Amino acid sequence: MNQDELKKAVAKAALDHIRPHLDQESVIGVGTGSTANCFIDLLADIRTDFDGAVASSDATAERLKSHGIPVYDLNSAGPLEFYIDGADETNERLELIKGGGGALTREKIVAAVAKTFICIADGSKKVDILGAFPLPVEVVPMARSHVGREIVKLGGDPVYREGFTTDNGNIILDIHNLDISRPLQVEEQLNNIVGIVTNGLFARRPADLLLLGTEDGVKSFS
Ligand code: 5RP
Repeated sequence: MNQDELKKAVAKAALDHIRPHLDQESVIGVGTGSTANCFIDLLADIRTDFDGAVASSDATAERLKSHGIPVYDLNSAGPLEFYIDGADETNERLELIKGGGGALTREKIVAAVAKTFICIADGSKKVDILGAFPLPVEVVPMARSHVGREIVKLGGDPVYREGFTTDNGNIILDIHNLDISRPLQVEEQLNNIVGIVTNGLFARRPADLLLLGTEDGVKSFS
């Protein structure tokens, strides 16, 4: 199977996992990216099994709406049983790097609210130690230089994501060469830098379930 087929397979596995738990009042948290898009396209097939969705980005909201799926503001949605999203990297503890698509802040918020975070990813995303994928951080524009200097003090090499503005009107710095052998500690260090809105480490709130697409089928980790 190629990577696209693996993404579709994990999206289908996520749908099969949540479907028995849905009812007419269910609102589902939906992530951003090509794997999440596969999931959104499948959700359209079970449109009448649930109420609607909360989106982690404007792009996801548009895709959901294009399928006729109502999109709710998180503040007006009730409890979210599930959040389904992809990742750029995952380790065996289901700690993640996210934000390759720049949607990390809203992704982290929706993941924080949901009872169960299901991460869907093709096998290439599983790593022993996080950090080969540059870690995205969302930064308030006026703090860019300050945040860059603080990241260098932590041993990372921040790279400005040219021509990109987040849905929240901020910029992204992608941190290369950062030692993330202790993800929780790094997440908290970055949280303490004034000017960073969100960092893409999901260690304080890792996934609850990882559905990983491999040549031997979809494997579950929890
Ligand atoms: C977007 C994300 C995505 O989940 C991550 O980039 C994975 O994307 P894809 O499914 O396209 O590989 O965090 O901000």
